[in-house]
This record gives sequence, C-alpha cells and structure tokens, in this order.
Amino acid sequence: MSYEDIRAAASAIAGRTGHDRHTLAIVLGSGLAGYARSLPGAVEIPYEEIPGFPLPRVAGHGGSLFSANVGGHPVLVFSGRVHTYEGWDLDDVVFGVRTAITAGCGTIVLTNASGGCGDGLEAGDLVLITDHLNLTARNPLTGLNDERLGPRFPDMSDVYTTALRSVALETAAAAGVELKQGIYAWFLGPSYETPAEVQMAKRLGADLVGMSTVPEAIAARHMGASVVGISLVTNLAAGISPVPLSHAEVQETADAARERFTALLDALLPALASA
Ligand code: HPA
Repeated sequence: MSYEDIRAAASAIAGRTGHDRHTLAIVLGSGLAGYARSLPGAVEIPYEEIPGFPLPRVAGHGGSLFSANVGGHPVLVFSGRVHTYEGWDLDDVVFGVRTAITAGCGTIVLTNASGGCGDGLEAGDLVLITDHLNLTARNPLTGLNDERLGPRFPDMSDVYTTALRSVALETAAAAGVELKQGIYAWFLGPSYETPAEVQMAKRLGADLVGMSTVPEAIAARHMGASVVGISLVTNLAAGISPVPLSHAEVQETADAARERFTALLDALLPALASA
C-alpha cells in the first residue's frame, strides 16, 4: 500500500460523500456493526467500492464505510475491520485509518472487544484504553518510512490522547454510563491466550487482552492524529474465566452490552468531533 493508494481511497470517499473533509473517524469492533445505520444522514459505501480497501473475512464483522452527520460534523464510521490473524499485512490492517486521516480526520476512535484480566473487571464492562502493550513483535511502521505519512521514529508517550480521555470520562459520567480505564495488550490471535499468557500480560500491566486496535493506534499517531480507544470486555480472559472461551460468548456479551455502548458513543462522538 503506497501513499498514492491511500490518497486514491480518500478521494473516492470525498467523491462519494460530497465531503472534501471529514472530522473524525470511528472503527466499530465486534457486535457494533449495526451502529452506523442509526446515525443521521448515514451514507453507506461498501468497502469493495473503495479502491485498495481490504475486505473483512470473519463472520460477525461488517464490511462498509459510512459517512454520517454527528453534531454538525461529517464523520466516517468503519463498520468492520480486518485483522492480522486473517492473514492481512499490517499495511492493510491500518489502511482504513490512514485513509480516514488523509480524508481530514484529526481524531480516530477505535473500539474493540477484549478479554478482561485487570482486577475488578467484569464481562460487560466498558473500558477507556489508557495505554497499550504491543506483545506481538509486529509493527505497522516496519519497512521504508514515507515521510509524507509521518516521521521514522514517532513518539508514543501519549497514544490515547490525555485531553480526549478527559473528555470521554466526563461525557460518559454525564450520560450515566460507567466507563472504567485500563491498559490493552495486543496479541496476534486467532487462538485466544493461554492462562499463562494472560498472567504474563497482567504482570506486565495489562487489564485487557485483544487482537486489534494497537496497529491502528500506532499508524494514527504516526500521522499525528489523536486516538481514543474504547474496549468492551466481552469475557474474563483465559484462566480468570471459570469456563472455556468461545466466539459465541464474545458475541452474546457484545449483543447484551450494545445499548450501553451505543448510548456512550451517541454522547461521545459529538463531544469528540467538536473537541
Ligand atoms: N482475548 C483476545 N481477544 C478477545 C478476547 C480475549 O479473551 N475476547 C474478545 N476478544
């Protein structure tokens, strides 16, 4: 994926939506795919109609980009993402986020489903990501650096922008939705972690374990965009949960939490789009 491919995708989006620039983009994780359609004036662009766009290969993950009006701001909503475990290169995994930033988005909201390993976390909790641990030894910026995207050695001191985290916490409190905070550890998947891996991550400081978000966050910071991460704990992580993990459990919890998650996003997106 070259800079030109990203530009081509961004201009296809501008052409289809009539918006030269969008303000904010959100990537919807497992179980949230339907959210985009609820937004005012949502215009759907199937991923296959965007040049260069990778197409999701997992059941339960959608595959369209929406442009919608949120509090008077044009926002992009990625309904479905591609993961490294599907066999995609990291370049493809971060293509959507890079395209959104090229299309004008200064803020990227990343949502995901995760396993909880932090003390006090329970299935169904919504957690604001405060930082991450990259436990995969993979990085989307490996290879030649294109200075038009960002610097060779980007700073990662404040990946999940402190000021926007404050906005998120205040907005959640005002909306009456409990939002906890925690550190997210990225594993490649697709097998869930072993109990020993979960204990390792926990001892290293992780509260959440999951298979996404971190590459997109790194690529977004590389390009200078602000990042907000919100995770839904769909299950207690392996070894902490008394029962074996299953994708069905992940989807059930995501379904049960949908109303709360959507209420949070309804409050959060306008606040972040104008922050
Ligand atoms: N581990 C990794 N990814 C996940 C989990 C988990 O326990 N739950 C949902 N996504």
